[in-house]
Amino acid sequence: MAKVLVIGSGAREHAIAKSFLDSDQVETVFVAPGNPGMKRDGIETVAIGELDFDALINFAKENQVDLTFVGPEVPLAAGIVDEFESAGLKAFGPNKQSAQLESDKDFAKHFMMMNGIPTAQFGSFTNESDAIKFAAKFSFPVVVKQTGLAAGKGVAIAQDQSELETAVTAAIASDGRVLIEEFIKGEEFSVMVLLGGKNHILFPVSQDHKKIFANDEGPNTGGMGAYSPVPHVDDKLVLKTIKTIIDPTIAGLEKQQLLFNGVMYIGCIMDGDTPKVIEYNLRFGDPETQVLLPQLKTDFYHVITELMNGHRPDVDFQMDSFYLGVVVSAPGYPENPKQDIPMPDLPANVYYAGVHEQDGQLLSKGGRIFTIYDHAATLKEAQQKVYAELSQINLSDFYFRPDIGYRDL
Ligand code: AMP
Ligand code: GLY
Repeated sequence: MAKVLVIGSGAREHAIAKSFLDSDQVETVFVAPGNPGMKRDGIETVAIGELDFDALINFAKENQVDLTFVGPEVPLAAGIVDEFESAGLKAFGPNKQSAQLESDKDFAKHFMMMNGIPTAQFGSFTNESDAIKFAAKFSFPVVVKQTGLAAGKGVAIAQDQSELETAVTAAIASDGRVLIEEFIKGEEFSVMVLLGGKNHILFPVSQDHKKIFANDEGPNTGGMGAYSPVPHVDDKLVLKTIKTIIDPTIAGLEKQQLLFNGVMYIGCIMDGDTPKVIEYNLRFGDPETQVLLPQLKTDFYHVITELMNGHRPDVDFQMDSFYLGVVVSAPGYPENPKQDIPMPDLPANVYYAGVHEQDGQLLSKGGRIFTIYDHAATLKEAQQKVYAELSQINLSDFYFRPDIGYRDL
């Protein structure tokens, strides 16, 4: 029986850990650092930070961990997989070089250009006045991006000259470089792919909700809810996305010797009839994972180990229902989330994120606190079910969006 270590601490990692624990081949799942809400499901949390590679490697060796699965982008960009592999340990995730597709947007844009992958027109600058001059090519709004990891906060949609200048200055101050992009007005969707070198497995399409308020208003967050599959992304569009985006991306990875074992999350946007890439993430999305992994009918540990061994396993997903998840956050999120709110009792269909334990009591910690999810034969019923369950919980002043799923209803 296998032992698995998951790196990370959010609801995404709770979902990943739970899927491993459901495997007949797995006896123990550790999560470092995890959160105390996960313990309810029999997951063991380990008090080691996600960037403390030496301690993580020691732990994995001492506890005979067979497989490490890395959830978040920060340790991937810092080279956790390279370090585990040098220590003779198996880790699922891109190495530092491939992780640049997420951690360096300039690298990603050049990768897309070199491999003919449709994406917004762009320029990349180290100098403010060159960036501002280039932006004049486009009419407002204009997209201004930091190149480095920014936890979803590195993109500004500048509506006028003064917002443009402020965003350019901020991006250059942060990373020494700024990307200017044409603004595309269209529906967004994401596809998640498991890669084992050239072999890949496509998950059902999922839809995140990035803005804090109903109707997609207010500031960006890490994601406030998701559903899957997504009715408005039909089979024809999925096939087009495979042909014009996923296949050329994998071919480009191979050509540039960037193939890896790990997750590839492709954020897409419709430009008229043409799907284009907004960004690559080399990890699962949060909260998308919370509605994707419950749809996997094949043993998750088997799928991951087969991919790592160079095989392409047969994989089944449920086909008869819609999954919908709502993120519950602390009041004040994303700017200034209130801390240490006592946690109510929660049902079993919850993945915990920002919680800590004090004197045996669970308290909130951070912005996104948990994801509650459920499924039903229609998207509408799935939505009604999750909101009915939320109404049964004493949520004090915790916040959630009331309209997850609205675009397809
Ligand atoms: P990113 O961090 O690159 O995923 O961007 C965050 C969000 O900014 C995306 O989900 C989009 O809503 C928006 N965005 C990024 N690039 C563009 C673009 N070229 N056109 C329109 N919206 C964009
Ligand atoms: N939900 C967006 C992300 O994980 O990047």
